[in-house]
Amino acid sequence: MPPQKKDYKQLLIKSEKSRKALLKLLKDQKRKEEKLRESEEKYKIITDSILDVIFILDKTGKLLFFNKSVENVLGYKAEEVVGKSFTKFVPKKELLKYFLQLKNLFQHKEIAKLITQINHRNGNVIDVEINGRLIKQKRKYVGLGVIRDITERKRAEEALATREEYYRTLFDLSPSGIIVEDTEGKIIEVNDTFCKLMGYQMNELINKNVKTFVPEEKHQTVNNNLKKLLNEKILEHEVVNISKYGSHIISQLRETLITLPNGEKAILSIANDITEKKQAEAELQNSREELRRLASHLQTVREEERSAIARELHDELGQILTSLKLNLSLMKRQIKDKSIYEPETLENEIASMTNLIDHAVAGVRKLITELRPELLDKLGLIAALEWLIDDFSKTTKLKYSFDCEFEELQLDENAKLAIFRITQESLTNTAKYSGATSIKVFLGIHENKLCLKIEDNGKGISQDEIGGKHSFGLLGMRERANLIGAQFKIFKGENSGTTVLLTLDKK
Ligand SMILES: Nc1ncnc2c1ncn2[C@@H]1O[C@H](COP(=O)(O)OP(=O)(O)OP(=O)(O)O)[C@@H](O)[C@H]1O
Ligand SMILES: [Mg+2]
Repeated sequence: MPPQKKDYKQLLIKSEKSRKALLKLLKDQKRKEEKLRESEEKYKIITDSILDVIFILDKTGKLLFFNKSVENVLGYKAEEVVGKSFTKFVPKKELLKYFLQLKNLFQHKEIAKLITQINHRNGNVIDVEINGRLIKQKRKYVGLGVIRDITERKRAEEALATREEYYRTLFDLSPSGIIVEDTEGKIIEVNDTFCKLMGYQMNELINKNVKTFVPEEKHQTVNNNLKKLLNEKILEHEVVNISKYGSHIISQLRETLITLPNGEKAILSIANDITEKKQAEAELQNSREELRRLASHLQTVREEERSAIARELHDELGQILTSLKLNLSLMKRQIKDKSIYEPETLENEIASMTNLIDHAVAGVRKLITELRPELLDKLGLIAALEWLIDDFSKTTKLKYSFDCEFEELQLDENAKLAIFRITQESLTNTAKYSGATSIKVFLGIHENKLCLKIEDNGKGISQDEIGGKHSFGLLGMRERANLIGAQFKIFKGENSGTTVLLTLDKK
């Protein structure tokens, strides 16, 4: 049955509706496509502006996509390498690493991450970091990866490592002690030199406080210095440290405020052991003072000697000459008065005057010997020593032995005089202080050296007396020995008595 008029109308309405629907569908489709294109464009702009290389590969390792950066990083144009296998870019020794990552990525869906190397088109091998993950594209899984050139980073890391090694070596091998401590003084790091200086093992010192090295009464000073460093940043001072074994070590400290890699403040202390230098300075100072004292003492001694000589001249020679003069003027008067002596009386007078003159001659000789041992010049050192010791024994009634290995000794004048004077002073000291009953003198060769040894059997000299500030006799002996290049020692014997020992290298 043909359609009715009403049916046509119906049909027309329906087709109008479908046309509108179709139009709407087409419009939507177009809008979607546009959106897609827009988003693809956006995506392309983004990927191309990224400096890292972005790539997509399938599970066989075939490369499906590269962004523009591949040209900068690997030297290839994207279209040259799309469709190739990734192995084209991989140095042989790195291949296995790549395959493992690829397997993990596609089989186990693990995120790939590897630091490796890649071949540049120009033949160079460059260091890269590659990160990859699986994504779904057109219902298939593909790998999306990012390659980052880390050549610069690696170079910087290597440079840093080299620098670190350089400073580590400096730290380890430095002849100065080095400590890094926190702002409270707790030791973070310490080098071997410091450990040795203080007598500790390194593990004993880590986390210990630097106050360990100073006596308790100085702890507050350490605290103050730590505080001061926070403001002043650098501090230089001398400290007396106490080692593990209790010995005192004088250190020159240079402390600097530093920042640790973790950003915390710390203190770098460099310690130089100046104990020996300080001791040498003190010894020098001491010996200067000794010399000053000796010089002033010698001055006094010279004055005393002069007055002694004057006294001697006055009391001895003066008296004798005065009585000689008296005798002579008496004789003159008697000759004038013609009351001439009996020959016998005259003879007596002359004898007594001769006696006085003999006294005067002996007195003068004694004076001369004291001023300069005449015997030394006339008879030589050995005879002069024999006379000195014999004379000493006569006056003091001390027994003596003189063991001399030489008939005569070839020495310069200064050495002879020094040996003579040192013996003289030793004998005087023995007589004055020792309470000895006998004395032994040896002059000979011992261990290839000329040796003078004077031993008494008295009470023995004490350590205090040896180092005494006013022991000028000893100082003088030491100085005389120094001047002729000899070594001088004085010490108490094992049982008793004092020994003076002078040794001189024989030329
Ligand atoms: N043989 C000795 N036995 C015991 N004590 C000694 C002996 N020799 C020196 N002494 C002690 O050492 C001290 C220092 O001696 P030193 O010769 O330097 O000084 P001195 O004899 O007292 O003074 P000076 O020598 O200047 O006249 C003496 O005072 C004495 O106490
Ligand atoms: Mg003396």
